[in-house]
This record gives sequence, structure tokens and C-alpha cells, in this order.
Amino acid sequence: MNYCKANLLDLLAIEQLEKDCFPTEAFNRRLIKNLLINPKSIVIKAITPSGKTVADIIGITKKENRIQVGRIFSLCVLKEYCKKGIATHLLKLLEEEFYLNSIRKVVLEVSALNVIAQQFYQRHGYFITSSILPNFYNDGSDAFVMNKNLL
Ligand SMILES: CC(C)(COP(=O)(O)OP(=O)(O)OC[C@H]1O[C@@H](n2cnc3c(N)ncnc32)[C@H](O)[C@@H]1OP(=O)(O)O)[C@@H](O)C(=O)NCCC(=O)NCCS
Repeated sequence: MNYCKANLLDLLAIEQLEKDCFPTEAFNRRLIKNLLINPKSIVIKAITPSGKTVADIIGITKKENRIQVGRIFSLCVLKEYCKKGIATHLLKLLEEEFYLNSIRKVVLEVSALNVIAQQFYQRHGYFITSSILPNFYNDGSDAFVMNKNLL
């Protein structure tokens, strides 16, 4: 598997990936385009040797209470490529990129119904905070806020 930063040429591939992973929550093309060109966002993709994009992670940097934090906006791996360590590697690359940008705190939202993702992040040092965002997703589910301090 190869890992590299995505650019505008990856727009359609990332759009398709998001649709495949999040049938009810996929980002639209315009948002993905903005994320691909915004200097504050980081999009990393995983591609097979034949050039198929099978996973991506999207992070953005933002100011929160006067400190810069990194926010994980999306993480998705095509079902048939799960359980191979791809998400773990993408997360590590994004955290390294945040760290190089002087970011020491990472935040994310995860659906209260998505236990697999919650456990995935917990195994990677993220904690569920007491913040719950009611009705955060289109299916009506709440979001838990998780965070991690980068050391
Ligand atoms: C959650 C998600 C990102 C995890 O992706 P993934 O690539 O399967 O994650 P990893 O392979 O890195 O780790 C998952 C498991 O595979 C195991 N694994 C890693 N490499 C492996 C390998 N070579 N062989 C077998 N298992 C392996 C890991 O140990 C881990 O196992 P555990 O759950 O028992 O600890 C993926 O399921 C997904 O895209 N879900 C849909 C979208 C989503 O929910 N996104 C997160 C919300 S933003």
C-alpha cells in the first residue's frame, strides 16, 4: 500500500470513497474540493499498487480557545481493505503532520452508534470526553467528542 497526500486530481476518487464508507453522511464534492485546496487541511490517501484509492484521512487545523488544535474530519477505509492496519497508518501519518505543525491536541467527533470507530480511536490513545453533540448526524444519532494530547 502507498500513502501520500491527496490533491485536486483526487477529487472524484475521494468523493467515491466517502460515499462508499458513509452512505448517509458523505461529504459533497464542493466540501471535498475545499478541503483539498485549503492550506489548513491535510488529506492523506492510501492507494494500491494498481492505483486504486482505498482509504483516506482528512484533518484540519483550527483555533480553539486560542490554541491550535487538529481536528480529524474523516477517516475511511473500504470494507474489503479493513483490518489490515491501513487506518492505523493513516492516523499515525496525520498525527505526525499535526505535530510538525506544532499541534499538540487532536479532537474528533464519532457517532455514538459507531462502536468500532470508538474502540479504534481508544486503542490509539483517544478519550471520550463528556461532550455529547445531540443529533449531530443526518441519521439523528448523537456524536461523542474524543480527544488526544500529542506528546
Ligand atoms: C474504523 C475504521 C477506520 C478502521 O479501519 P481499519 O483499516 O480496519 O483499521 P486497522 O486495520 O488499522 O485496525 C483495525 C483492526 O485491524 C487489526 N489489524 C491491523 N493490521 C492487521 C493485519 N495485518 N491483519 C489482521 N488484522 C490487522 C488491528 O489490530 C485492529 O484490530 P483490533 O480491532 O482487534 O485492535 C474502518 O472500520 C472504517 O473505515 N469504518 C467506516 C468509517 C468509519 O467509521 N470511520 C470512523 C469515523 S470518522
